[in-house]
Amino acid sequence: MLGFKVSVLLFAVCSLSKCSGRFLNSCNYPPSKWCDSRDIAAECGVLEQCIKFNVTKPTAAPVNVSLYYESLCPGCRQFLVMQLVPTLIMLQDIMDVDLVPYGNAQEKEDQGKYIFTCQHGEVECLGNMIETCLLNMLGINAIPVIFCMESGADVVKAAQPCFGVYFPDKNWDSVMKCVNGDEGNKLMHQNAVKTSGLKPPHQYVPWITINGEHSDALQDKAMSSLFNLVCSLYKGDKPPACGVGLKKKTNSYCMK
Ligand SMILES: *[C@@H]1O[C@H](CO)[C@@H](O)[C@H](O)[C@H]1NC(C)=O
Ligand SMILES: *[C@@H]1O[C@H](CO)[C@@H](O)[C@H](O)[C@H]1NC(C)=O
Repeated sequence: MLGFKVSVLLFAVCSLSKCSGRFLNSCNYPPSKWCDSRDIAAECGVLEQCIKFNVTKPTAAPVNVSLYYESLCPGCRQFLVMQLVPTLIMLQDIMDVDLVPYGNAQEKEDQGKYIFTCQHGEVECLGNMIETCLLNMLGINAIPVIFCMESGADVVKAAQPCFGVYFPDKNWDSVMKCVNGDEGNKLMHQNAVKTSGLKPPHQYVPWITINGEHSDALQDKAMSSLFNLVCSLYKGDKPPACGVGLKKKTNSYCMK
């Protein structure tokens, strides 16, 4: 979570201070330390911004949102692109997200390796595997890449260009090595175990758990507005974004 949060904080500090060279050169602290104390903040010329940031610091445990999905299910793509990621961008200080790409896939074991069958065919298995490897490599920072893939006309074809946009210095071959190797096979098996361990068992995807729990009521609320649900469940001081809201979206499911 941290990398994502820090980069957004920097953006905020930058946009408020117009990111002038004065701030970058006027103090000897890296941006991640700027709000550590009033003295440092003052020295770096961002005291006002840091005081504001401190006010919006989380005061309670984050709301945990897990999404069980498969890469080509239209309803999953829509939920991820139209709700989950926009909500995360606005409410990242009060929520944590866990993505489990597997969904209605099935596995069987053959001589120590797993063979997967996916609802929307082999290309979906490849999409699930790429996203799994990205999540393993990049943690929360994989989410913008997955968002880019799921927004594309062709999820799998979009993968490499999307990765290149966010990680121009990283090597795509390292992703494909995971995808085609034992590592990806093991990671996908873990997704299978996690998905089949759901209580109650999933009946469709996207399948959402909130703080580890699934119910029809939570699912309906998340699908109708994840943003409102996260704001309403958060026990700490509500961030200012909760007063603004996000537009409602329509949804659909892929049945098992
Ligand atoms: C922000 O809060 C931390 C602890 O909550 C405090 O130590 C620090 O001085 C505060 N920073 C500013 C700029 O007020
Ligand atoms: C979310 O998960 C974290 C880590 O497992 C946990 O510490 C936290 O209490 C959870 N949040 C809620 C609201 O249950």
